[in-house]
Amino acid sequence: MATSKKSPKRGKRGSKGTKTKSTSRSTGARRGIHARYPWKEELNPYFELRTSAIQGTGAFAIRTIRKGTRIIEYVGQRISWRTADKRYDDEKMNRHHTFLFTIDDKTVIDAAVKGNDARFINHSCAPNCEAINDRKRIFIEAIKTIPAGTELVYDYQYERSDDHTPEDEKFYKCRCGAPTCRGTILAPKSSGD
Ligand SMILES: C[S@@+](CC[C@H](N)C(=O)[O-])C[C@H]1O[C@@H](n2cnc3c(N)ncnc32)[C@H](O)[C@@H]1O
Ligand SMILES: [Zn+2]
Repeated sequence: MATSKKSPKRGKRGSKGTKTKSTSRSTGARRGIHARYPWKEELNPYFELRTSAIQGTGAFAIRTIRKGTRIIEYVGQRISWRTADKRYDDEKMNRHHTFLFTIDDKTVIDAAVKGNDARFINHSCAPNCEAINDRKRIFIEAIKTIPAGTELVYDYQYERSDDHTPEDEKFYKCRCGAPTCRGTILAPKSSGD
């Protein structure tokens, strides 16, 4: 089943941003991005992390990825929405930035804690990947064949509440650069709106 929402806190906006520890483990020193995330898994065979024109760090294909390929699982600490709401306060953020991913109404993955590189895959309104909810585990899959060098992106479709204001639209501004960009990371308005 394709999942249609990614993550912000419902109702109020926000979060304190991502907390990452740079403590080293006995596995030895790691450099660059790896040094910041010592729990990181083995290198993913399909992509590497680089600076993205969309935002911050992004994931870029290092080989042709065939349509239908399951590229990576989105992992992290599984917490309740209640805990996520306590952990992140949108009101204190200038711009929305979290590593949360909605599983269902009760549970959310916080990839800021024990997350892997899936958390760096950016949003685009013209995605080449999608997030699949397979029995409450989230997998990122290619929805088209992706040439090497291309940034991997999926549509976050952040949950849109009834009381979202134009200010919220700005808070969730999309910078994907696609000709079909809808201007916001929020899910499209339903046709009844
Ligand atoms: C899970 S992180 C993705 C990795 C992020 N680029 C980074 O370096 O941490 C999700 C955050 O990235 C930013 N982001 C991802 N796609 C974006 C887009 N199309 N436009 C603007 N910001 C985006 C937002 O701040 C979002 O909350
Ligand atoms: Zn966009």
